Amino acid sequence: MIVGICGSPRKKATDYVLTEALNMLEEKGFETEFFAVRGKNIGPCRHCDYCLRNKECVLKDDMVPLFKLLKESEGIVMASPMYNGGISAQLKAIMDRCRALGAEDYDALRGKIGMGISIGGDRNGGQELAMQQIHTYYILSGVIPVSGGSFGANLGACFWSQDTLEGVKEDEEGFRSLRKTVNMFSRYLKKYSPNSIL
Ligand SMILES: Cc1cc2nc3c(=O)[nH]c(=O)nc-3n(C[C@H](O)[C@H](O)[C@H](O)COP(=O)(O)O)c2cc1C
Repeated sequence: MIVGICGSPRKKATDYVLTEALNMLEEKGFETEFFAVRGKNIGPCRHCDYCLRNKECVLKDDMVPLFKLLKESEGIVMASPMYNGGISAQLKAIMDRCRALGAEDYDALRGKIGMGISIGGDRNGGQELAMQQIHTYYILSGVIPVSGGSFGANLGACFWSQDTLEGVKEDEEGFRSLRKTVNMFSRYLKKYSPNSIL
């Protein structure tokens, strides 16, 4: 199963593009689960170290179902709008809260395959910096980060929304980067995922 995490608090551009990505993966035969931060209660990590002592997070909020999805997944798609040249605070909170996953099992995410999607209102609004944040998180967690490769998707799927849903739908170049990244992600899943059904 592939879990897609939408880091936007709105049902707009990021939600739309991630849904498209998961549809492409379904067409390739993968099961997918969509998890949106929208409407969820996900607090930031408190660094209380409760998880290190008790192997679970002290906060019992909407991370609980996401922890389960992440553990069960073979692949992860993190999608974020650009907020001040980087990922949203909501997606960053999820990354930080996953410290509890690592406390429970150091290898909880190790060996899973990960890809990223970043969407800015500006053409060059920090999409590649955000992608680097996502890939850095993957590397730290033992997730294998993939891009779509050179000639179009160097660091992953990058979109220019012009701040609207209509705008992102018009971004042909963004969708080209998405298709390339989804294809590479799927190839990695098939080749390296021990649980891959394909
Ligand atoms: C607090 C905030 C900061 C933003 N900073 C950036 C930015 O640095 N670069 C950029 O390209 N767009 C920026 N934007 C615009 C959003 O990234 C853009 O509208 C995106 O499409 C929103 O995704 P959504 O429609 O899925 O919510 C910002 C928006 C907000 C609310």
